[in-house]
Amino acid sequence: MGTDAALRRREDGLEPVRLAVFASGSGSNLQQFLDAPGRFPDWPAAVVLVVSDKPASMAVERALGAGVPCFAHSPKEFADKAAYERAIVAQLEASRVQWIVLAGYMRIVGDSLLDAYEGRIVNVHPSLLPMFPGKEAVEQALAAGVTETGVTVHRVDRGMDTGPIVAQWRVPVLPGDDATRLHQRIQRVEHVLYPTVVGQLVREWAEEGDRS
Ligand code: GRF
Repeated sequence: MGTDAALRRREDGLEPVRLAVFASGSGSNLQQFLDAPGRFPDWPAAVVLVVSDKPASMAVERALGAGVPCFAHSPKEFADKAAYERAIVAQLEASRVQWIVLAGYMRIVGDSLLDAYEGRIVNVHPSLLPMFPGKEAVEQALAAGVTETGVTVHRVDRGMDTGPIVAQWRVPVLPGDDATRLHQRIQRVEHVLYPTVVGQLVREWAEEGDRS
């Protein structure tokens, strides 16, 4: 569903909350947010912008396929990280983005973004944090020999996968799992948990704003 259709859907008087999804990779989580208005009854948000540091990624392809505007630039095009993030913030403001959803965005979010969207940036991580933060969380779980891992949705702070946890879901590690198989099982959970939790967070936020 494109941005215009998603923005038109709500009839309860509240405007859909305007999301930017940040993605560097295959964008399978991004796809869930693009499809959410058609999948979740009364989903309270709309993706109005996709931000990617990898212009050639599948994530960008999915966004363009859905008719959602993209800020797709490599940080190398900018003088430094601060300049890159300032350009992103300018685009977020131009698109009137209210919340940021990190979905496989493989960069640490810096001060410009954190200051502009304090408390309104969320991330999904493929482990039960605080276990296995950082890259290759699925491989870390396999190497540790745990019998279960999972998915964490958390708010983003200045650390690496350290922000306050909003929701977690357990996923078993099964005999014979390799990283691909286990990650597929984890992603099936992410694809439902992440849009559900973000929907709840932004609905509460919108309702609070409406009352104040
Ligand atoms: C997800 O597994 C997420 O947990 C991690 O990066 C992966 C992104 O996958 N942060 P995709 O690009 O959404 O398919």
